[in-house]
Amino acid sequence: MSAKVVDGKLVSRELRARMKDRVGSLMLKDIKPGLAVILVGDDAASQVYVRNKIRACDSVGVNSTVKRLATDCSEKAVLNELIRLNNDPGINGILVQLPLPKHIDEHKILETIRPEKDVDGFHKVNVGAMVTGNATFYPCTPHGVMKLLDYYNVRIEGRHAVVIGRSNIVGKPMALMLLERGATVSICNSKTPDLSIFTRQADIVVTAVGKLNVLEGGMIKPGAAVIDVGINRLKNGSLAGDVDYESVRTVAGFVTPVPGGVGPMTITMLLENTIRSAEITNFRR
Ligand code: GUN
Repeated sequence: MSAKVVDGKLVSRELRARMKDRVGSLMLKDIKPGLAVILVGDDAASQVYVRNKIRACDSVGVNSTVKRLATDCSEKAVLNELIRLNNDPGINGILVQLPLPKHIDEHKILETIRPEKDVDGFHKVNVGAMVTGNATFYPCTPHGVMKLLDYYNVRIEGRHAVVIGRSNIVGKPMALMLLERGATVSICNSKTPDLSIFTRQADIVVTAVGKLNVLEGGMIKPGAAVIDVGINRLKNGSLAGDVDYESVRTVAGFVTPVPGGVGPMTITMLLENTIRSAEITNFRR
C-alpha cells in the first residue's frame, strides 16, 4: 500500500481564499482585522515562523505588526506591551511567540493577554472553554490537523487515536479535540516505554515530540492515518518531521509530509482565529 500524501498547502490555499472574502465583508464595515505579534529574542526558528505569519496576514488582507524585544528585556516590558495591545481597538489578535527566554514567566505572559484577543488559544480561560466543549479559539496546530482530517474525510468518531506528545501547544489540545469528536484517545509521550504497543492499535496517530523517527512503518496498523507535527532541522539544513516518512508511507493509508503538511495549516488557523476575533467584536458592537 502507498499512503495518500496530504497537501497542506493546497488545503490552506482553499481556506485562505474563503478568508479573503470574509475580510472583504469586514472591510465593507470599515473593519480591518489586525494581528500583533511579540517576538522576544533572536531564536532563529522563531524569526522564521514570525516572518511566515506576517506574510500570511498580508496574503488575506489582515493587518499585522511585530514588536521585537531583546532577549534580556524585562518581563515587565513584555507585560506593558501586552497591556497596550489589549487596549488597542485596531488589534483583534495578540500572539507572543514561544519559547520565551527563561527569565520570563510564560504563564504570566499568556494570562495577561485578553482572552478575546488570544488567537493562539493558550489563555487558561480559552483552554478551559475548550475542555468544556465551548471553545472560541482552538490552538492553531491541532485545529489545522482537524481541518486536514476533515478535508480528506478521515473518520474520527469511534476510532482509536494515539497522540504522541504532551505539550500545551499541540499534544494536550490535540487529544482533547479528538476526544470531543468521539475518538478513543491514548496520549503517549517521549517517556512512554514502548510506543508501538499503542501505535499498532491506532487508526489515527499524531506525532508531536520533536524527535526524529519516533514512528516507523513497522509500528503502525496498515491503512492508519499518520499526522506528523514534528519539525526537526537536519545537519544538512533541511527539515524533517518525527515520522520515518519512507517506511510509514508504505504502510499508512494517509500521511502528512514535512514540510508541506501540517505547517501551512497552523498559520492558516491563526488567520482563521484573527478574522473570527474581528467578526465577533464587530457583532458585539
Ligand atoms: N511556538 C511554536 N508554535 C507556536 C504557536 O503555535 N504559537 C506561539 N505563540 N508560539 C509557538
